[in-house]
Amino acid sequence: MDWGMTNRFSRIISPENGRCVMLAVDHGYFLGPTEKLEVPQRTIEPLLPYVDSIMLTRGVLRTSLPPISHVPIVLRVSGGTSIIGDDLSNETITTSIEDALRLNVSCLALSIFVGSKHEHQTLANLATLVDSGERYGIPILAVTAVGKEMVRDARYLGLACRIAGELGAHVVKTYYCENFEKVIEGCPVPVIIAGGKKLEKDIDVLELTFNAIKEGASGVDMGRNIWQSEHPIAMIKAVRSIVHENFSIKEAADLLVTEKKIGDRKTVVVNQKNI
Ligand code: R5P
Repeated sequence: MDWGMTNRFSRIISPENGRCVMLAVDHGYFLGPTEKLEVPQRTIEPLLPYVDSIMLTRGVLRTSLPPISHVPIVLRVSGGTSIIGDDLSNETITTSIEDALRLNVSCLALSIFVGSKHEHQTLANLATLVDSGERYGIPILAVTAVGKEMVRDARYLGLACRIAGELGAHVVKTYYCENFEKVIEGCPVPVIIAGGKKLEKDIDVLELTFNAIKEGASGVDMGRNIWQSEHPIAMIKAVRSIVHENFSIKEAADLLVTEKKIGDRKTVVVNQKNI
């Protein structure tokens, strides 16, 4: 990796421990005003001190983060479909590399839909984006999107992650599944996990994070299970404790209880400069 690529990559995956806490707030690009993300700025601002990076579209970046913010940006640059359209996999690249550079992003993110009608198109999108990223030293995050008809098992996710790595993605986001270590084993680049739909119990989020890290994930790119929580700050602190401090599920659960009692008010700021 050249200097710019390495510098940007190190802002996404910590060079100290190889881990990452990325906050996903890009849902509106196909879901519209998602619950608790109706006004992105309101959702994002209180969480910024506790994230390593933030994943969002250029529209939300421009309108919801001050340009003096230092939080590393993971810019979603694929889209062109909606939840009410006929095929979510029919994505294109929605942002030019020049605009990404102007926005000073640390990483570009794009979805691939392996096994879907538009598999080829989305994999070609990834290859094109990797070439653009290589030209300017910007790492690429490939998101393995899973259609309703796909099974989220190690065989499918392992296939999608491997293909993403083979096409040159520098980091891959996928879902946790049974035999997750197989997914990790077969992927040549770091893998981070999405949280998926809001889980019923807080402990389930901590378990998901803990198991993923234990089985080789480099971190999380988590959205709804953080900001749809009743206590988003407490939740992100608990998730962060597992990712960066190797907390056990019990230790993280205790931290969550303590932080909830504090009422999400008293904040121990981790990344002051993100604000
Ligand atoms: C989905 O394609 C979006 O990219 C989200 O960023 C991703 O699903 C992670 O968010 P969540 O943890 O809410 O699933």
